Amino acid sequence: MKVVAFLSQKGGAGKTTLAVHTAVAAYETGLGVVLIDTDPQKSATVWGEARQEPGPVVATADVSDLRRVLDAARSDGMGLAIIDAAPHAAPAAASIARAADLIAIPCRPTAFDLAAVDGAVRIAKAAGVKAVFVLSACPFRAPEIAETRDALGAFGLPVSPVEITDRRAFARAVASGRAVTEFETDGKAAGEIRALWSWLQEQMA
Ligand SMILES: Nc1ncnc2c1ncn2[C@@H]1O[C@H](COP(=O)(O)OP(=O)(O)O)[C@@H](O)[C@H]1O
Ligand SMILES: [Mg+2]
Repeated sequence: MKVVAFLSQKGGAGKTTLAVHTAVAAYETGLGVVLIDTDPQKSATVWGEARQEPGPVVATADVSDLRRVLDAARSDGMGLAIIDAAPHAAPAAASIARAADLIAIPCRPTAFDLAAVDGAVRIAKAAGVKAVFVLSACPFRAPEIAETRDALGAFGLPVSPVEITDRRAFARAVASGRAVTEFETDGKAAGEIRALWSWLQEQMA
C-alpha cells in the first residue's frame, strides 16, 4: 500500500481539496483507497458523510492513531492511503511525514503561500521522505504561476507540471459529497485531477 500525504503549514493551500479529488481519481482506476482525515476541522470527513458512493473509504483519525489506521488499511488490502493533514505543528506533522511514501505540498501562486512552504519542506526532509510541490487554485493565465513555479524550483524538489486551476467545479463537487471526476466527468477540473494523480504515481514509482 502506498501512502500519500498532503501537507502544508498553511490553511487554505488546497490540502483537503487535492486529497479528496485525488482519492476519488485513484479509486476510479480500481484501487482500494482510504482517505484518512487527520484534521480536527474534519472537512474531508463531512464530505465523506455526504457521499453516496461505496469508495473511497473515509477514515477520521487523530495523528496519534495514524499507524494503527494505516496498518488496518494494509490488512484490508487497500492499495492507497491518502492523508489529509491539518496545518499541524510538530510533532504531529512529523509523524504524518514519516508515515508517507510521498509528501505533496500544495502551494497557491501567491507570495504568502510561497513564504509558507519551507516549513513543510523541512518536515519532509527531516523525515527523509520524498516531497513534491503542486500548484493549486491557479488563476487563469496569471504571470504569478510561472514566478511561483520558478521560486519552488529553487527548493530542489519536483514541481508538478500539472497545475490545478481555481475552478468553481472543485468546491461545487465537494459541496455535494462528490469529486470533480464524478461531478463533471469530462470537465477540465476532472482532467487536471486525473493528470495530477498519474504524475503523483510516477513520482512514487
Ligand atoms: N482548485 C481550486 N479551485 C477552487 N477552489 C479551491 C481550489 N482549491 C481550493 N479551493 C478552495 O479554497 C479553500 C481552501 O481549500 P482547502 O482544500 O480546504 O485547503 P486546506 O485543506 O489546505 O486548508 C476551500 O474553500 C476550497 O474550496
Ligand atoms: Mg484542509
